[in-house]
Amino acid sequence: MASLWGGRFEKEMDDIVKKFNASIGFDQRMYNEDIDGSIAHVTMLGEQGIVTKEEADQIIAGLETLREKIASGEIVFNVDDEDIHMGIESRLIAEIGDVAKKLHTARSRNDQCQVDGRLYIKKEIREVVHRLLYLESVILEKAEKYADSITVGFTHIQHAQPITIGFIFMAYFQMFKRDIERLMDTYDRMNLCPLGACAMAGTTLPTNRHRTAELLGFAAPTENAMDSVSDRDYSLEFLSNAAISMMHLSRWAEEFVWWNSQEFGFIDIDDSYCTGSSIMPQKKNPDMAELLRGKVGRVYGDMIQMFTVMKGTPMTYNKDFQEDKESLFDAIDTWKASIQIFAHMLEKTEFRMDRIEEQLSKGFLNATDIAEHFAKQGIPFREAHSIVGRMVKACENKGCDFEDLTDEELQSIDPRVNKEALGDISIKACVDARVSYGGTAPSEVRRQIKAGSQWLENLEELK
Ligand code: ARG
Repeated sequence: MASLWGGRFEKEMDDIVKKFNASIGFDQRMYNEDIDGSIAHVTMLGEQGIVTKEEADQIIAGLETLREKIASGEIVFNVDDEDIHMGIESRLIAEIGDVAKKLHTARSRNDQCQVDGRLYIKKEIREVVHRLLYLESVILEKAEKYADSITVGFTHIQHAQPITIGFIFMAYFQMFKRDIERLMDTYDRMNLCPLGACAMAGTTLPTNRHRTAELLGFAAPTENAMDSVSDRDYSLEFLSNAAISMMHLSRWAEEFVWWNSQEFGFIDIDDSYCTGSSIMPQKKNPDMAELLRGKVGRVYGDMIQMFTVMKGTPMTYNKDFQEDKESLFDAIDTWKASIQIFAHMLEKTEFRMDRIEEQLSKGFLNATDIAEHFAKQGIPFREAHSIVGRMVKACENKGCDFEDLTDEELQSIDPRVNKEALGDISIKACVDARVSYGGTAPSEVRRQIKAGSQWLENLEELK
C-alpha cells in the first residue's frame, strides 16, 4: 500500500523499514483520542470556511463509523497503517472517498500525536487519581479502626518510640495526598492544546486554535508552535509522578513483608492476597507486597527511558519522540494495577495486637518520654538525656525495665531523680501525651483523620 506521504518518493519503503518505523502496534491504543482530535479539527475547519459545512459533516460521520469499526474489531490495523494518525486517515479515505483528503488541512502528525498524547494522559490522570482516592479512603478507615492501637515505631529498624497504628496509616495518607496533588498540578500545566501548531510553525490558513482547544476540553491552546511539537515535559512529569508514587507503595510494601514475617508476626494478610510454595506446604508468602516492591523498578526504568530519549534532541520534532509511548503506557498500566492491588491488600490485612504487645516492652520505647518528663521538671534536656542513658545502662546490667530500678539506684545515677519523679511511664500514658501538632496521640491522630477526610471531601474534580 502506497503511503499518504509518498508523493516525492520513487521507491516503496523496504519491509523491515516499514516494521521498524511503524508505531501502529502501540499507538492504536489512542484511537479514540485521535478521532476526537480529528472531529474537533474538522469542526473548526467547517466553522472557519476552510472546508464546507457539508464536507465537515461527512468527515465527522465517517470518523464516527471508523470509531465503531475499530471498537468492534472490524478494522484491524497492520504495519501498512504506519501509525494511528495515518491509519485513521487512510481508512477514512477508503470509507468516504476523496472528501476525507481535506481532513489534514492545517495540521500535522507532529501536533496530532501531541493532541492524542495529552488527551490520553489527561484521561489516565483522572483514573489514577480516582484509584489513589480509593486507597486514601481505605487508609482513613483503617486509621480510625487502629487509632488507639499501640505498636513499635522504628528508626534505623531499631525500636525507637511507641506510636499508634493509626498514626502510621496517616503518615502514608500524606504521601499519597502529595501524589494526588502532584498529579493535579501536572494536569493543570498540561491542559493546553497543541492542535494547529502544525509541523512546527503554524499555518497560513485562517484557523481558530482557541476553538479546537475548547472543543477538546483544554483550558487554552499552547502558546508557541515550535514548543508545542517538541515538548514532552508532561510525559516526563507524569512518569516522575508515577516513579515517586510507586516508590511510596514499595516502601509500605516492604513494611508489609517484614510485618508478615515469622519474626514480626505483626499482621495477618488475607489468604486471597498471598501465595503458597510448590514444595513447602506450610508457606504463606506475601507475594503481592513483594511484587509491588519489584514493580517500582519497571516504572523507574520507564521514566529513565523517556528522559534519555529527550536528552539532547534538537528543535523541533524528531522521530526519537515516537519512543515516548510504550514506556508511558507501561508505567500507566503498572501504576494503576499497583494502587488497586495495594488498596485491596490493605483492606484485607489486620494487625495482630497480641504479637505487637510482646514487642512493646523491648527496646526502652519510653526512654525519650522519661527524658521529656525530667525536662518538664526543670532538668535541662541534654542532662535529662544523659540521665536516661545511664538508666538504660543500669537496666541492661540488671536485666530489668525502668520501673524496676530502685530509688537508691536512681539516686546514684542523679540525685534529682527518684521513683516518684518518674511518674506514669506506661507505654499508653506516653503515647496519649504526644499531643503536639502532628504527633502520635490518639486524639491527634483523630484530628489528622478529620483533616484528611475534609481534604478528600473538598477536592475538586479534574475537568
Ligand atoms: N508516529 C509518530 C510519533 O509517534 C507520529 C509523528 C510523525 N511525524 C513525522 N514527522 N514523522 O511520533
